[in-house]
Amino acid sequence: MAKNTREYFLMHKDIRVCLMEVSDDGSIRNVRRNKNQEEHFPLGGQMNDMKFHEWWSDRAIPRTRHGAKNALQRLGYISTASALVNNLALSLTDCYWIMPRDEDLSWDQVSLFTNDFVDSFGELTLNEAYEVDLRGRTRFNCATSQGELQKKWCIADDGRRYMVKGNYGDSYQQSLNELFATKLHEQQGFDNYTVYEPVLLSVENGNEGLGCMCYDYCSEDIESISAWELLQTVKLRQNESFYYPFKQVCLSLGISNDEFDRFIDYQIMTDFLLSNTDRHMNNIAILRNPDTLEVLGFAPIFDSGNSMFYDIPFELLSGVKIKEIKTHSFIEGECRLLQYVHDRNLVDINKALADFSIYEKDIVERHIRIEKLKELYEKKLALFCDFQRGRDIWKYER
Ligand SMILES: Nc1ncnc2c1ncn2[C@@H]1O[C@H](COP(=O)(O)OP(=O)(O)O)[C@@H](O)[C@H]1O
Ligand SMILES: [Mg+2]
Repeated sequence: MAKNTREYFLMHKDIRVCLMEVSDDGSIRNVRRNKNQEEHFPLGGQMNDMKFHEWWSDRAIPRTRHGAKNALQRLGYISTASALVNNLALSLTDCYWIMPRDEDLSWDQVSLFTNDFVDSFGELTLNEAYEVDLRGRTRFNCATSQGELQKKWCIADDGRRYMVKGNYGDSYQQSLNELFATKLHEQQGFDNYTVYEPVLLSVENGNEGLGCMCYDYCSEDIESISAWELLQTVKLRQNESFYYPFKQVCLSLGISNDEFDRFIDYQIMTDFLLSNTDRHMNNIAILRNPDTLEVLGFAPIFDSGNSMFYDIPFELLSGVKIKEIKTHSFIEGECRLLQYVHDRNLVDINKALADFSIYEKDIVERHIRIEKLKELYEKKLALFCDFQRGRDIWKYER
């Protein structure tokens, strides 16, 4: 065994699902699966060891996370993967973790759902100048979150876990978009979405900025598995739309056809209205019971921040061609995604009038955008009305 490697069990709560060698830099080898607990092995790694390696590296915070470089330096980690190992790969979205073979720890002792933690890494991505207070340092922290945006996990006074998200650059639009989407789902009376609320953040130079927060939809009894992970359980053809393979996996896990259609139809249509260009396979998830492995349904719609033309400079907003929007989702054409919708009336157009005053909370320089955003949203609504009247608008895509 190489010098800086140590043996760990991969644990699912208190179940040992495999034994593996893990290096300080986070790489793994010599994975020995526990044949008696195969069902508890991460779905994404069940097919073969290569898939398992990918599952493991996806668990670390992406290297490209905004602010990650500074956070690593300040905390003395060589990589996000070594931060992962140092924090036992604990998460607030599932119940997997790693236990050194020569230590005897239990889930109760380490779970971030019930033990205190301080997410110093996350704090540092949001505020470079954050003072890391080592006195308050808890034994393990959270070093496993996905996504590029600066974010941190916190514990509320009542013990609930919540995530705070920041924004790229100076604007607060990504956070405001989450509030805008929350409002739309609320008006629609949809029953499965994540509620985002505004929060003040300390950002650079002691200034305050605006971010958003949402409570953890997972707990010790509910863990989430991304659509991307589910897709690792089937063979995909090159350039194939993810829609049907994803549906097939969901159905095989016990989600009913109606439940699938209802949720995905609704999500596709509201993403269309919001011009959400980022409904990639890590922004859709299902929930399951970590003990019984029973699938409970879809995770409430989350991450609608990359929407409402947030990344389009003001000068270019007037030139946006709403039928030609490209998106990261099952397929690339935003209009074309609507072809998957079964029930076009799941969204009530009379309850889709939006509250643009939310965007007045953005920095003053961005207020000039609000009128343009309104115009674009109205164009989208008109196109959507055509679709609801039965027109297959993607057929008219250029
Ligand atoms: N409310 C939540 N409860 C539990 N897990 C969450 C919640 N919101 C997001 N996540 C998880 O955290 C990941 C990152 O959050 P996300 O909002 O997608 O950030 P980003 O905008 O950086 O992609 C998601 O892919 C999801 O797995
Ligand atoms: Mg995301």
